[in-house]
Amino acid sequence: MLILTNSDLERLVSMRDAIEAVEEAFGKLAQGLVQMPERTIMAVGDGYILQMPCYIEGLGIATTKIVSTYPENPRRGLPTTPAWIVVNDAETGMVEAVLEATYLTALRTGAVTAVAARYLAPRESRVAAVIGCGFQGRFQAWALTEVFHLQTLWAYDISRERLRRFVEEMGERLDVEILEAESAAQAVGEADIIVTATTSKEPVIRRSWIGEEAHISAIGSFQPDHRELDTETVKEAKLVVDSRKAALREAGDILIPMREGAITEDHIYAELGELVLGLKPGRVEGDGLTIFKSVGLAIQDSAVASLALKRWREHLE
Ligand SMILES: NC(=O)c1ccc[n+]([C@@H]2O[C@H](COP(=O)([O-])OP(=O)(O)OC[C@H]3O[C@@H](n4cnc5c(N)ncnc54)[C@H](O)[C@@H]3O)[C@@H](O)[C@H]2O)c1
Repeated sequence: MLILTNSDLERLVSMRDAIEAVEEAFGKLAQGLVQMPERTIMAVGDGYILQMPCYIEGLGIATTKIVSTYPENPRRGLPTTPAWIVVNDAETGMVEAVLEATYLTALRTGAVTAVAARYLAPRESRVAAVIGCGFQGRFQAWALTEVFHLQTLWAYDISRERLRRFVEEMGERLDVEILEAESAAQAVGEADIIVTATTSKEPVIRRSWIGEEAHISAIGSFQPDHRELDTETVKEAKLVVDSRKAALREAGDILIPMREGAITEDHIYAELGELVLGLKPGRVEGDGLTIFKSVGLAIQDSAVASLALKRWREHLE
């Protein structure tokens, strides 16, 4: 059986490839060509372990990802979000491969931010902000530079040391000026695109800190009682989610304002797949704030796993 590790996968799948594959997967989701049973989330120790199965018609494989989120792991010298994907052959059900998926998870999560931003961010976006300078934050920044000609990227993290490391590392890797912000408010003040990629349980940005026109991609929280966005921001924005069902189960960013009575379910304007298929327009004239809330879907994992296997076979030929 084939086993591919993070370093193999880094060579096989680029962000650019992942963006196209993830966009296509969201189109298939909106067309009803996907089986994606509800993921399980177990609270274990000081973290969570999730199992995420999926079958996308036409890919020839089914995948199940096991992914953990252990916010204290960096102190242990381990990643916060380690993952593996088991790949089954769709015809025989045999396990065909096992892929280490820490890189793939961050890649596909960056990719979905890029896809959503293509539909929702102000067209001439030049300034971005990343709040949360951990592993996902790096891939979020990378993904944005693939689809926008950014001039400036503001970065902020509650850990000064992680912020410094991010600015140093990403400054060398990306063709954009990266600035260290003193506060989240400073980071987002002039931003056209804002990404929140933290392990915070409480809002990390406030409506009053953000300009009139901006797009926010909130990828960090996936628990009904955790959130990165405040109620005012969510209430004012045109809100797009990866999956209505998953968001209404897991996204505290939406569920907390609902519990407060500030918004109802109808406040969700669309699923990303509806924008991809052109069933609903993304940003239109007059839109100020837009939000893409991602809790993370198994289709994203299937899409990048399928691509990785295809590239692996090509590399063998
Ligand atoms: N939506 C998705 O598909 C998806 C995919 C992968 C991970 N995630 C989630 O993204 C989050 C980040 O994951 P990671 O692997 O990058 O973790 P990480 O530990 O590497 O990075 C998280 C960073 O957030 C910072 N942070 C925490 N609270 C903050 C605050 N209040 N203000 C500013 N910064 C703050 C931490 O200091 C840390 O640097 C996790 O909650 C994870 O579950 C979501």
